Amino acid sequence: MDTQLFSAHEAALAGSLIREGHLVVFPTETVYGLGADVFNEDACKHIFTAKGRPQDNPLITHIHDREQLHALVTALPPGSQDLIRCFWPGPLTLVLPKRPDVSAVVSASLDTIGVRMPSHPVARAFLRSAGTPVAAPSANRSGKPSPTNFAMACEAMNGRVAGILDGGACESGLESTVIAWDGKRWNILRPGSVTREQLAEVIEDLLEDSILPQSDKLAVRSPGTRHPHYKPRGKVILFTDPADLTDDNLLSAGIGAENIMAVLCLSSVEAEVRRRTKARQVYSYADWKALARNLYSDFHRCDIEECTHILVHTPIESTGIAEALQNRLKKAAEYTI
Ligand code: TXA
Ligand code: MG
Repeated sequence: MDTQLFSAHEAALAGSLIREGHLVVFPTETVYGLGADVFNEDACKHIFTAKGRPQDNPLITHIHDREQLHALVTALPPGSQDLIRCFWPGPLTLVLPKRPDVSAVVSASLDTIGVRMPSHPVARAFLRSAGTPVAAPSANRSGKPSPTNFAMACEAMNGRVAGILDGGACESGLESTVIAWDGKRWNILRPGSVTREQLAEVIEDLLEDSILPQSDKLAVRSPGTRHPHYKPRGKVILFTDPADLTDDNLLSAGIGAENIMAVLCLSSVEAEVRRRTKARQVYSYADWKALARNLYSDFHRCDIEECTHILVHTPIESTGIAEALQNRLKKAAEYTI
């Protein structure tokens, strides 16, 4: 398939392809999405083929304005209005009761639908032009890290979609926070850059202890959490204290002289990391937010450099953006630390 590449000021052109039933990759403030008209069932089915994604994983639907919500959902649970007022447009997905006329392909046969309103100006111009809500998972091939810049989006989807829209590097770099109403409370299904603390300020009485850790129960409600995710080709190994990067520890983690190693860390520990390891590349960042923003693109660079092992500095505390970062890192490391 010929893929048209669009610059940021051609967002309206890219949006018109959606109306014609095509797939288009577009930027958001979180990661790039792989979009189709939510009301075009065939187009939505093609998303799964382009991604190589299991059909049991529901899609998030992206809207341009609040009016579009009425075509998707039957009701707004308590607190929704406040959440929308505080966090839209922005990286928060609300799982809401779905209208029956939205295809089961989009919701993976659940009776709910995940909806969000992106804030990225290029995404907004694109969605305005599409004139319909756009169902879109992240634009990676299934199991790979989500694309967070135009080059990664092209590498994942060139030849598989009608168009790819350039919006530069994504500001957050991690997928949106996903929350769902369980009939009594809001639960975080996937942490993201809208943090638990920010949510608690808006729906304080509802959050309390109700937010469950990633559990089996949750995996059923948010099918995406079951599938492998966010993984580069190299083996990801997490560390919290650079003092632990001793020769013995590296060796027992399977890293020998023949391996190619990269390290991602905060700048505050870079000197110690360099002293202790023979890493080919050390990518260092001022804070966790910057590390999160660059995580997937660094994973991608490590793949290009054929790194066999990627050591990643991981926050101990799980407040703010650190919760989402820990969540993605644990998945990338397959829960081994
Ligand atoms: O930031 C984002 O959310 C990006 C951009 C493109 O918007 N999208 C994204 O989509 O990450 P995707 O498909 O890669 O992840 C969607 C997550 C999955 O874990 C899925 O299971 C969950 O949201 N989800 C979607 N609809 C749901 C629903 N009705 N009930 C429960 N979980 C849902
Ligand atoms: Mg994804």
